Amino acid sequence: MRCHWRVHNSQLSYNIVVNKFPNNFIWGAATAAYQIEGHPDEAKRGLSDWSRWKAVMKPTGKGLAVKHIEHLDEDIALIKNLNLGAYRFSFNWATLHRGPGVFDKEAIAFYKTLLAKLMPVKAFATIVHFTLPHWLAKRGGWEDPETAREYANYTQMLVDEFGDYISHWITLNEPNIFLWFGYESGIWPPGYKNAWDRYLTAFQGMLTGHKLAYELIKAQYPHTPVGFAQNLYHFEAEDELGAIGKYLRSQIHNYAFIEAAAEMGALDFLGVNYYTRFKYKFNPEAYDSANTKLRSKVWAELMPPELETNDLGWEINPEGLYKVLTAPKLKWILGDRPIYITENGYSCLEDKKHPGIHLKNSKSREALLDIEDSYRVDFIRQHLKACHRAIVDGVKLEGYFYWSLLDNFEWALGMEPRFGLVHVDQQSYKRSEKDSYKYYADIAKTNIVN
Ligand code: FCB
Repeated sequence: MRCHWRVHNSQLSYNIVVNKFPNNFIWGAATAAYQIEGHPDEAKRGLSDWSRWKAVMKPTGKGLAVKHIEHLDEDIALIKNLNLGAYRFSFNWATLHRGPGVFDKEAIAFYKTLLAKLMPVKAFATIVHFTLPHWLAKRGGWEDPETAREYANYTQMLVDEFGDYISHWITLNEPNIFLWFGYESGIWPPGYKNAWDRYLTAFQGMLTGHKLAYELIKAQYPHTPVGFAQNLYHFEAEDELGAIGKYLRSQIHNYAFIEAAAEMGALDFLGVNYYTRFKYKFNPEAYDSANTKLRSKVWAELMPPELETNDLGWEINPEGLYKVLTAPKLKWILGDRPIYITENGYSCLEDKKHPGIHLKNSKSREALLDIEDSYRVDFIRQHLKACHRAIVDGVKLEGYFYWSLLDNFEWALGMEPRFGLVHVDQQSYKRSEKDSYKYYADIAKTNIVN
């Protein structure tokens, strides 16, 4: 409920807008396995497509990410002290599934411990967050129908081992980003550029995997909700013909996978990952928006941001989140299914916000690093207000997960971008709570954003 109170007396006039969320609203934070774990076999033996791919990229923390496996107890305590109702994490397909029918006992034991310690915080489990086991990637990844079958075998193992602990299953994270960056822009594995034939085949592979996983989870746990997480941009057109790019992107990027999953009867809820708005201008000669050296096949040129951006240049646009959530097309597809914001976050590149912190030998480095993050506090406040408006306007939004609990490995951008509520020092792996951590802990406790 949004309440307006005006308290009058001769001296004072307050106008307080209280954004109180529904009582059962779920407050959470999200992470993903490869971005935080630092599994020793990943670092040494290259178990996944990403651990082999990273050689050509920016600093990666040597595959150790933020050593979550070693810091499990501390990280669980950070989750609990945040007053969270739920934690979104992902299983690591590559460390768990070492070959056909071969599952790693130690990796299974790690997640058993994690889930036992996490209780009573609800577990939102992502089955695959981008990374593929190398043995599947090298024979075609999602383009090979065998991958969907192996993904189903892997899911069956997860359900047998962990089914009792999981509150919500997220089969796949952002099939749309995986396909865009892996088969169109070529900046992520498998690294194909404008390979639309492969794109479509991999799309079908992922959809097949999703459907198989949905069915086998429901066969054992009919009451456990199963969905997936999609990256939704708010797309706009700069000019009349820009509607062509906007339309194509909205359909292919935002809605196609959701619509297919819903139509197949394989969707109980939708996870929405929201970061920014994209505005397009018609241009058949446009360059790819994620790979500036590549001519795009989509006749849409991405316009520069118009509003303030985060340090990665992503426009901060909370209104876009409201628009994404209230889009009639989404309502039409989802009907009465609930939505969770499964990711939303702000990234800082430390040196931009605090010039000078990269000075060598500075003893005070740590205290300065993105800890007094009023910009992140503001980002969260504005986006939660947008969520609140959407709820007031009838959207069935039942939870919000901030991305991310911890600073972590940000894919092609390496270890530099920091999205965390918790700062992680890249030498000592020391965790420090940022101001946004305290701000968010208070929201999770009171259910109120102001
Ligand atoms: C999303 C990914 C997540 C993280 C954020 C910043 O696309 O799902 O892993 O990298 O972006």
